[in-house]
Amino acid sequence: MSMMGEGDVPDQGNGGMMNRGMMDDAGSMGDMMTIRRLLSNHEQIEREVQNIPGGVRSVTVSDDPKITELIRRHVREMKARYSRGQPIRMMDPLFRELFRHRDRATLTIEDIPGGVRVSHTSDDPEVASLIRQHAHRFVSEAAEQGMERVMQPTELPEGYAPAN
Ligand code: HEM
Repeated sequence: MSMMGEGDVPDQGNGGMMNRGMMDDAGSMGDMMTIRRLLSNHEQIEREVQNIPGGVRSVTVSDDPKITELIRRHVREMKARYSRGQPIRMMDPLFRELFRHRDRATLTIEDIPGGVRVSHTSDDPEVASLIRQHAHRFVSEAAEQGMERVMQPTELPEGYAPAN
């Protein structure tokens, strides 16, 4: 489904750009809808994060098949944003840094019963610290607390000092 929204770029005679602009916009609305549904159902989400060399491995699951589907969709939508450099949540310093260094991170998704297992790593230790902060201090807290948590920014990791 394609809908016009506030962020649409007017057609300037370039059909390709127009289509891409609309798709990005529709994609964004879809991404936000998935996030809103995850947040309002956060009590039905279980999550465990383990530190591994270079980052984290997380397991995020739900007993409700509809929530399982949302979790699976969300990680793929966020991975797609990561790979096309279309950031989200730029008011949060942690997200600004994560997206700035996206080319140094690897995000691997595996479907498991009830949800996903994700490994998120980087060879760069500063980026690894961002990834851990994101998994433990943002995603796990969002799953625990819901909407209230996402109204707040996330601290950068202690001692975070990127080379560039
Ligand atoms: C109940 C709420 C949420 C759940 C359960 C959830 C779940 C996840 C999971 C499982 C991942 C994979 C990485 C990891 O496991 O650490 C992830 C990544 C991500 N999430 Fe969410 N999320 C939630 C809310 C949000 C919100 C509110 C936003 C932004 C507004 C968001 C943005 C992202 C982004 C940008 C990534 C990928 C970026 C990266 O990998 O560095 N998530 N989320």
